[in-house]
Amino acid sequence: MCGIVGYTGKSSALTPVLEGLRRLEYRGYDSAGIAIPVGIGQPLWVEKRAGKLGNLEQTLDGTSPQSHSGIGHTRWATHGGPTDRNAHPHLDNEGKLALIHNGIIENYVELRSELEAKGHHFVSETDTESVVHLLSDARKAHDGDLAAAMRDVCARLRGSFTLLAIHSDDPDRIVGARRNSPLVVGVGDGENFLASDVAAFITHTKRALELGQDEVVDITPTSIVITNLAGDVLPPHEYEISWDASAAERGGFSHFMLKEIYEQPKAIADTLIGRINGFDAHLTSGIDLAHIKKIVIIAAGTAFHAGLVGKYAIEQWSGLAVEVELASEYRYREPIVDRTTLIIPISQSGETMDTLMAMRYAKSHGAQIFSVCNTNGSTIPRESDAVLYTIAGPEIAVASTKAFITQLIAMYLIGLHLGQFTGVITAEFVAQMHDELAELPDKVEQVLETVEPLRTLTRQFKDSSSMLFLGRHVGFPTALEGALKLKELAYMHAEGFAGGELKHGPIALIDIGTPVVAVMPNVDTLLAEKMASNVQEVKARGAVVIAISNGEVPAANHVIRIPSTHDLLTPVLAVVPLQVIAYEMAVARGNDVDQPRNLAKSVTVE
Ligand code: F6R
Repeated sequence: MCGIVGYTGKSSALTPVLEGLRRLEYRGYDSAGIAIPVGIGQPLWVEKRAGKLGNLEQTLDGTSPQSHSGIGHTRWATHGGPTDRNAHPHLDNEGKLALIHNGIIENYVELRSELEAKGHHFVSETDTESVVHLLSDARKAHDGDLAAAMRDVCARLRGSFTLLAIHSDDPDRIVGARRNSPLVVGVGDGENFLASDVAAFITHTKRALELGQDEVVDITPTSIVITNLAGDVLPPHEYEISWDASAAERGGFSHFMLKEIYEQPKAIADTLIGRINGFDAHLTSGIDLAHIKKIVIIAAGTAFHAGLVGKYAIEQWSGLAVEVELASEYRYREPIVDRTTLIIPISQSGETMDTLMAMRYAKSHGAQIFSVCNTNGSTIPRESDAVLYTIAGPEIAVASTKAFITQLIAMYLIGLHLGQFTGVITAEFVAQMHDELAELPDKVEQVLETVEPLRTLTRQFKDSSSMLFLGRHVGFPTALEGALKLKELAYMHAEGFAGGELKHGPIALIDIGTPVVAVMPNVDTLLAEKMASNVQEVKARGAVVIAISNGEVPAANHVIRIPSTHDLLTPVLAVVPLQVIAYEMAVARGNDVDQPRNLAKSVTVE
């Protein structure tokens, strides 16, 4: 959702704030704004523009004010369209207090009428503006104490939020708060940062502080005070950011997505370190496995597809029943869940609201939570009983690639670990599978070395109105993932089907020239034979078939070869060409690859 940055310190604030916004633009990019104090008690200098950050940057020049503090925002609109007026920061009526917000304030209508009745004048259609007026009144009631005012305001708000505020009477101070939405503190030397994500300040400091639910943070260049809403001072939880600053740069690639596709071999290798060949004994420490009767994986979007693959592996290897649920649906159907249920939330960001809420629901019914997450210190792992971190590094492109592939690896690690626990698989089998896993980085590298012809081929279909993806067994969730990638990046209609379902309806979609991607990784299997029949069926009706396979597929028009691996591991190799198809199609259609329309990376609203 929105990206938030605050800076107070020794530098001119414009530079670190804009740099932070640039790194957070993946979170939302339909408008951007910045507020900077230009003199004690003076109205703040505010610049905001609809559109991408570039629009805002174009309005800034050498005459923009130099100041040692400031806040900035890049928006993904919820309440109020993406216009200049609705862009953040929002101001109080004196123009001295500025506020930026990520999330949704559910009771903003009632707050707005109350504040309008008191004489506050509103200029936008946003939920956020109610908060700045409320904060302005609360600050006056607290004799200018912005942190105390923030605590009062948070207590009155319903919904989810990260808030940052600055007032020109006390220009070095920035006050933030969070509930169900991310906010981290960057600890510098004579300077401090607040941001939605560590990427915003990673080039300045690697020291970060976690903020808990309903906590308020008050920073100046030399102090950081964290309190709960009652005003009690809380001890800071500091951690070191392990990501290298260069991980958040494009490094010569034309897009972050392409860079992240090419980082997949390393991401897999890093995720396996210390977790295979005898080092996996502690994977689930913190979880009481003895009483688990059922596993429920909850996730959204691409992470959901990783969960679907996980179901095949975990059930087969552990003998435990696994359900996979869309997080957004889970808690609204009163699912059967108790302390014999192990919930596995999968989330790259660790902040996805649907996943977080589903997990909290299960937890409140006694379930144990073992999350899979890529973001240290984020809310989902913090509220879990145990965590398996994927080591994909920062994923900046909105479309998930390397995070997905490491989520698959996490599923295999969990399946093998649980299989040993239940005794369904032998130690020899586990060792064999660990060896297979260890070979995946090289095999993904091989796929990447041979995808060039696929890029040319993809361009042939750039004007197609639709593309279909077929697969069976773990090839089915792989096909779903291929279709999702294409939809979000190429804005092209795409669907993934189980090969066997074709004849039950979807085959009617096939027309002369319809491109169909058939995921059929291991040719010598029964499933590949069945898929070959499906390929014949669609080809007979005019489809152009691109098969993803480790061998010859005579019925297909084109074959993209991938190396062989164990059947359950094939999505790791088969998904790579699908990512390349989506990437190339987006480029061919002139779309913004890293920031596709209407999307945001971390979806912190329900
Ligand atoms: C698609 C994509 C999304 C995310 C989904 C969950 O490319 O990135 O579908 O997978 O929004 O996000 P996380 O994993 O952060 O919970």
